[in-house]
Amino acid sequence: MSRPKVWIPRRLSEATLERARAHYDLVEEPIDEPAPPARIIEMSALVDAMIPCHSERFTAEVAAALDPRLKIVANHSVGLDHCDLPALRARGIDVTNTPDVLSDATAEIAMLLMLGAARRATEGDRIVRSGAWDSWSPAFMVGKQVSGSRLGIVGMGRVGRSMAQKARGFGMEIHYHNRAELAPDQAKGAIYHADLDEMLGQVDFLSLHCPITPESRNLIDARRLALLPKEAVIVNTARGGLIDEAALLAAIQSGQIAAAGLDCFLVEPGGNPALAGEERIMMLPHIGSATRKTRDAMGYRALDNLDAFFAGKRPRDLVN
Ligand code: 8YV
Repeated sequence: MSRPKVWIPRRLSEATLERARAHYDLVEEPIDEPAPPARIIEMSALVDAMIPCHSERFTAEVAAALDPRLKIVANHSVGLDHCDLPALRARGIDVTNTPDVLSDATAEIAMLLMLGAARRATEGDRIVRSGAWDSWSPAFMVGKQVSGSRLGIVGMGRVGRSMAQKARGFGMEIHYHNRAELAPDQAKGAIYHADLDEMLGQVDFLSLHCPITPESRNLIDARRLALLPKEAVIVNTARGGLIDEAALLAAIQSGQIAAAGLDCFLVEPGGNPALAGEERIMMLPHIGSATRKTRDAMGYRALDNLDAFFAGKRPRDLVN
């Protein structure tokens, strides 16, 4: 029996590619640019499966134009906002993602941004690096203490819970807003707020770990920024569209928000040039899951899903 043909449009880890080559006929395109819709549609006639990233967009229009040869989109991402799941299901195409395996790496980056924003890491690095460090005083570069503060987590899924676990190590009091209250063994003492607005008034730090949907777009807007206590710190490692970036910048410039740490932006790649002049915003280029261990685990998880599919079984991470 001939081996299934699989398109890999991005540069995945070497371990992932080695394992994939052993079981599939690959069309490898180690390109560091998102594959455009026309390319996705073109490739659908040539392969049985694809392993795209969150950067390849499977809109309703793309789904409608896909060739019937394509049977499964085994995403190399946990986020699914780039896929119109009902439209792909309507075409009989299975979609999978890679949950669990990137939770710790993403929560690490959220911790880094929380600490870096609170303790002014961007500014401090710039001062030392540029040779501008010419004095010191007890009033120099005073920031906000993380240890013992209150952290509000929006979205207490796997990444949110990993963030909570790490933050507990800093003695933080954990609050969370989620669609549903967690069972006690998962909440581990975190305080549930059914109402996001009500939680905002009670936290010093806010970290976003929820998916972006039509309902959560601009979740943190000017009105909600004003509900946070003065000089709160905001962290976003989920999706850029969750925050109104112009409102965030205004809130930082007015002193309502002390600082922010962002790993994702409304426009990616590139980010928002309007934020670049503000050192109180620590910024990273969407690298939440970018560790060697996690990239291998994501690739393997996508391949586990493909293996199950082609063995006639239900893939573990089928989402549509
Ligand atoms: C990944 C992500 O870097 O998994 C996601 O949803 O946003 C990122 O952590 C990316 O998707 C890799 O394909």
